[in-house]
Amino acid sequence: MSVNSDQTGTDQVGAVRAAAQAVSSGDDRIVIFDTTLRDGEQSPGCSMNVEEKIRVAETLEHMGVDVIEAGFAIASEGDFQSVSEIAKRVKDSVVCSLARANAADIDRAGEALKPARAARIHTFIGTSPLHRQYQLNLDMEQVHQRVIDSVSRARRFTDDVEWSAMDASRTEADFLFRCIETAIACGATTVNIPDTVGYAYPEEFGDLIRSIRDNVPNIDKAVISVHCHNDLGLAVANSLLAVKAGARQIECTINGIGERAGNCALEEVVMAVRTRNDLLPYRSRIVTQDIMKASRLVSAITGFNVQPNKAIVGANAFAHESGIHQDGVLKNAQTYEIMRPEDVGLVRSSLVMGKHSGRHAFKKKLEELGYELGDNALNEAFVRFKALADKKKDILDEDLLALVDDQIQAGEQQVRFVSLHVQCGSEIRPEARLALEVDGVRHDAVCQGDGPVDAIFRAVREIVPHDASLPLFQIHAVTEGTDAQAVVTVRLEEQGKTVNGQAADTDTMVASARAYVAALNKLLTKRGKTVPAALSA
Ligand code: KIV
Ligand code: ZN
Repeated sequence: MSVNSDQTGTDQVGAVRAAAQAVSSGDDRIVIFDTTLRDGEQSPGCSMNVEEKIRVAETLEHMGVDVIEAGFAIASEGDFQSVSEIAKRVKDSVVCSLARANAADIDRAGEALKPARAARIHTFIGTSPLHRQYQLNLDMEQVHQRVIDSVSRARRFTDDVEWSAMDASRTEADFLFRCIETAIACGATTVNIPDTVGYAYPEEFGDLIRSIRDNVPNIDKAVISVHCHNDLGLAVANSLLAVKAGARQIECTINGIGERAGNCALEEVVMAVRTRNDLLPYRSRIVTQDIMKASRLVSAITGFNVQPNKAIVGANAFAHESGIHQDGVLKNAQTYEIMRPEDVGLVRSSLVMGKHSGRHAFKKKLEELGYELGDNALNEAFVRFKALADKKKDILDEDLLALVDDQIQAGEQQVRFVSLHVQCGSEIRPEARLALEVDGVRHDAVCQGDGPVDAIFRAVREIVPHDASLPLFQIHAVTEGTDAQAVVTVRLEEQGKTVNGQAADTDTMVASARAYVAALNKLLTKRGKTVPAALSA
């Protein structure tokens, strides 16, 4: 049995193949392997449902990502479904599933990847003394045998197999070389060298890659990949030095999300290579103009806000505050800008939107901002835009982005927000009158609380009883001014399941209610669409 890896049918597969010879042939291609949907999703509190993962995968594909690690097929039914659905839809990127070094994992990955046009199985095992002894309870020979078994088994499903030496940077060099040589001999076409705990220093990591090239006899038969974690803030630097030393695949995530301090940030590593091409004369296939859009999407879905001073995608990354800087930029942008904002998808367009803007201008504006909505979604967004324009005089790009992100977020809605009236102040106990529709039937609740938000959330819980905890409630203003829209993020947790909801509104209380409802809808979907007993009675 073999997954459908049509080696001649896609440019993409050809491109990834071509990168395999890059080191020896002097090719300048770097393969970008995105693991937002796998390692990124392992960030505590970060959870995406199948529809959200598909949306992210399609964005990554459009952006030119070479390999999309869509999930860990054996981890759960949801993960299997995500890998499989992404495999069905994505045509221009290789779709990959992670698998531990055992038959069940590999078979499950192979099964999930069946519909893919180009499929990769990524199998890994811990090779360091710590991992061998404490995590696996295996000696060197047993680990080595697992490398043989796992790579050989993965090759039954596809001829695009990646093998990873987990905790490679803390593995004895000779043993690492031996395992890599074996993995390649058994058919691995990419060998990944993770700095799993973010321990390496850039020069040290570069030296490790160089030593692999020098000491693994068959290394020219595979692409060397690197997977750097950011525990010391060195993930991007380590990846760059690895490329200098001969690595040709970088594993990374949008906004750098991932286990603990996260992974190498795609946007940073790609822009570093592009901006300093004089030092690193390599090229990726990434459409950098899609970077902001991907960053916003991942942030909206996960509820992980991007810090304002984050390189490339932070709100301040291209902002110039001091007079001297502003003066310089006005005279010549290059005085203080090493990259052009438009190259990462920051558009400052001339189309100013307001109350009198029509549907056509609205559509055009969204296209400028990188969004192409279908007719229904566009109509709904336009109605909301008009309502916003009634409340807010100047509609800035940020307002439109919040509005569209909010709508894209909404997804399946078993529960719908209808209306909210809140009374609060220093002299009274806050009270919320809330109306929601559940499966098309209106329900009302009046609740008091310790604050207006508490009163609203109690009212939601009265209408839709549930025991989920609220590990995150976060508000941020989209723009300046007292009429700014608030974007509220609500995270709910129930029996190990985490969901995030987000909503934007000029009224912070309305945004809070709608964000809670958005999270609740996701929770209900995760639970299997069961209406709580109190409602169905
Ligand atoms: O950090 C790591 O080592 C990993 C492997 C599964 C590649 O995520
Ligand atoms: Zn990792």
